[in-house]
Amino acid sequence: MNSVLALARPELLALEPYRHAAWLPSVTRLHANENPWADPDDPTGPPLNRYPEPLSEELRAALARLYGLAPAAVLPGRGSDEGIDLLVRAFCRAGQDRVLICPPTFGMYRVAAEIQGAGIVEVPLDAGFGLDAAAVRAACSPAVKLVFLCSPNNPTGNSLATSALAGLLDSLAGRAIVVVDEAYAEFAPGRGLLDRLPRYPELVLLRTLSKAHGLAGARCGAVLADPAIIELLARLIHPYALPSPTIDAALAALAPERLARSAARTGRIIAERERLAAALAGLGAVQRVWPSAANFLLVEFREAGAALAAALRAGLLLRDFSREPRLAGCIRITVGAPADNDRLLAALGELR
Ligand SMILES: Cc1ncc(COP(=O)(O)O)c(C=O)c1O
Repeated sequence: MNSVLALARPELLALEPYRHAAWLPSVTRLHANENPWADPDDPTGPPLNRYPEPLSEELRAALARLYGLAPAAVLPGRGSDEGIDLLVRAFCRAGQDRVLICPPTFGMYRVAAEIQGAGIVEVPLDAGFGLDAAAVRAACSPAVKLVFLCSPNNPTGNSLATSALAGLLDSLAGRAIVVVDEAYAEFAPGRGLLDRLPRYPELVLLRTLSKAHGLAGARCGAVLADPAIIELLARLIHPYALPSPTIDAALAALAPERLARSAARTGRIIAERERLAAALAGLGAVQRVWPSAANFLLVEFREAGAALAAALRAGLLLRDFSREPRLAGCIRITVGAPADNDRLLAALGELR
């Protein structure tokens, strides 16, 4: 057995996965209880009366090319949210195992753990929202099976230092799975931890097409990991997890000309982020703009309630974090199109 599987729920290693209908696209399908007729009003694309390919090998190969990995190291799913859920289900026994999180961070790690009945160990980020690797290491008892880190982190926007992440991976080898959620990696310099995957069997990365690739409505993300972990998660994922229109939309978005367009849009978002950050920092209502390597800014206001209300009067919704621990006065602002950002600046500029 691959040693990394020693951390998985033992009963799952013996699980007989659901056996979906065979996938032989060239043969007429009288084996899956589908309807023989597609409706002519259905959108173009693969006929929707048929189930999709259970795990699209074409999409898996396209995502593997995007991230520079072997297809066996990639599992496509319904957003990275599905990856979070699969990981918790694969590694945590209810009432026994634990998930370690570093708040303030993305809320789904906690929710997925609570749904599974896993305990939660909290090791807060440090005063500058950096990773306290020594504290994480010290809190990793044998019950902690998964450590969720997020870089760039939501909602703080900062990237975690690669040296701290590498040191943590070295010291947790064989002890826990370290999941680094890189949903916003395309907005940060470098390739995230992609190049470290072959070296660390316990490292799992989460990536998504929802953010820089502009496909939030399609729901497509990927778990990137040692093939033994991918194979385990593939046995747990629901059959036909990705709908045909999602597979189609993702394949189209991964074509070279579309990738070039989304890279150009990412560049514009980064430039707009810096412009917005500088302009916000000059407003009287703003106490502090945290540095961001993502497509949003965490901004501390003198009066968060007044800022939220002013934005709403201008027809703009912001995300209130001001009542969360360590985030007093803070609002998360997604970098929008330049005209929307200007409207926001005008609305907030009227506050004192
Ligand atoms: C850090 C982080 N991870 C994962 C997700 C979920 O993304 P997806 O659309 O891929 O499910 C989000 C969504 O906002 C996020 O902020």
